[in-house]
Amino acid sequence: MTEKLSHNEAIKTNSRLLRGTLAEGLEAVATGAISEDDQQLIKFHGIYLQDDRDLRPERAKRKLDKAYSFMARLRVPGGVLSSAQYLAMDRLADERGNNTLRLTTRQSIQFHGVIKTNLRPALRQIDSVLLDTIAACGDVNRNVMCTPNEFASPVHAQALRTAEAISTHLLPRSGAWREIFINDEQITQALEEEPIYGATYLPRKFKIAIAVPPQNDVDVFAHDLCYIAILENNTLVGYNVVVGGGMGATHGDATTYPLVGSVIGFCSADDAVAVAQAVVTTQRDFGNRSNRRRARLKYTIEDRGLEWFRNEVNARLAKPLAPAREYHFTGNGDAMGWHTSPDGLHHLTLFIENGRVADVGNWRLKSALKAIAAQDVSFIITPNQNIIIARASTAAREIIEATLASHGVALRASALREAAMACVALPTCALALTESERYLPSLVTRLDSMLGEHGLAEQPITLRMTGCPNGCARPYIAEIGLVGRNPGKYNLHLGGAHDGSRIAKLHREDADEATILGILAPMFADYAKHRQPAERFGDFVLRHGLV
Ligand code: HEM
Ligand code: SF4
Repeated sequence: MTEKLSHNEAIKTNSRLLRGTLAEGLEAVATGAISEDDQQLIKFHGIYLQDDRDLRPERAKRKLDKAYSFMARLRVPGGVLSSAQYLAMDRLADERGNNTLRLTTRQSIQFHGVIKTNLRPALRQIDSVLLDTIAACGDVNRNVMCTPNEFASPVHAQALRTAEAISTHLLPRSGAWREIFINDEQITQALEEEPIYGATYLPRKFKIAIAVPPQNDVDVFAHDLCYIAILENNTLVGYNVVVGGGMGATHGDATTYPLVGSVIGFCSADDAVAVAQAVVTTQRDFGNRSNRRRARLKYTIEDRGLEWFRNEVNARLAKPLAPAREYHFTGNGDAMGWHTSPDGLHHLTLFIENGRVADVGNWRLKSALKAIAAQDVSFIITPNQNIIIARASTAAREIIEATLASHGVALRASALREAAMACVALPTCALALTESERYLPSLVTRLDSMLGEHGLAEQPITLRMTGCPNGCARPYIAEIGLVGRNPGKYNLHLGGAHDGSRIAKLHREDADEATILGILAPMFADYAKHRQPAERFGDFVLRHGLV
């Protein structure tokens, strides 16, 4: 017997290729919200309906509607923006959003606090600099990630071209985004079809990333489909293909869990787009459309087996996958600070705590980046929520340093802080069970002082926190992962690998800060005393039987 399809499948089927009643809903002035079904559809256009959860109790007391606003997320393959585009996004945050830009763990920018009447103008501003928010959320292929920086080497540039080609190929063909948000005019539906997705798109979200070793900054084991660039004599000859990673889980539901992806073979660079189509259409045809909790590609592969999956993908390819090649990753962080490429240009990977670009007191990061955008540089969002100011001449480099200094912005932070990442969580994310972005900085301060006591201040340990088990900051593969469970309490996961290739173990449930510090203090002491040269914290706690 076939299981009943989930309600989201009906929403997609009846949506006329992602239109629903969005156009009418955005006109309705009586509410800042939109209908429940449209809330699902608007995600396909890169937008979430949210509300300010800090204000909920007060507004409920006063019998007011929630303080609704929208979050809009850009589609920027590989996170690359020109300085003109960056400037336009900076202005957008001030004119239509909450005066901040949120760089995301998937190399995008989110704008929070966009009220209904500002939504169309905001998207028009985005469109005017040749950017969009198409498919940045929803049951489609999302923003394609790629190891930054395309200006570092020809190989990096080639990897980005692959990311762009995949992004374009897997873009929904529906004209709904332009029709609803930009043009106000009906595009003849008879002209449209979705040759790859079909009318019901994918069973669930789909995420793709490309890594150029030795950096695993994109975390290739954490997405549905990933490519590991294989180099011979400094030339990119093709990619190892990784499938079935995914972070999301649900507390108390043992049928859901985070998984790292598996390498299933190798393809030439020319075949990368065809492989993406083969993997995506396999998931389209076989993914679970009844139970959304089990609808990601990782479960399709768990349920049917990796061999079955490889055969199914190969059957859809003109040239089957070849055996995987050797590769080596050294870590999943960013190479912070200044780097100079062979062409003499300078590139600064600037630390941005939890990706939040704002002006707070004397720390005026947002103004600094805006001033820097007057230079002929590119801005690249990294998968660790930092920003690379790329292609700076030697003269521009001096101006950039002076600008950051005069705005109170330090280039670097402690090793732990640089390797730490939090998801957004409260107050905007409707799914958050705990704080994350607003809390992690103070926890890092406490952990930093503990590490300092043991002479471990220079040790980069990956620390990641999320406000719920969905895992937007990829906490399950961190060396120390904290996953929000109840207000003020987190599940503590330990023992992920420094290169992101291993799932951490659940060590303690429902731990408050005192418990977390109490567990980690003796571990840091042991690590300081007994670690082998160059041994990473995640490896040490496993080898030493501490978890
Ligand atoms: C069922 C699973 C998931 C759901 C329902 C979900 C939902 C959400 C929501 C509602 C937000 C917006 C929060 C805000 O900006 O206020 C968000 C942010 C985000 N999510 Fe997820 N998410 C899930 C899993 C994941 C996973 C596994 C990843 C990556 C591997 C991810 C990547 C992101 C990114 C990059 C952001 C932007 C903010 C940030 O960088 O933290 N999400 N997610
Ligand atoms: S991990 Fe959970 S709380 Fe954090 S942004 Fe994602 S959905 Fe929201």
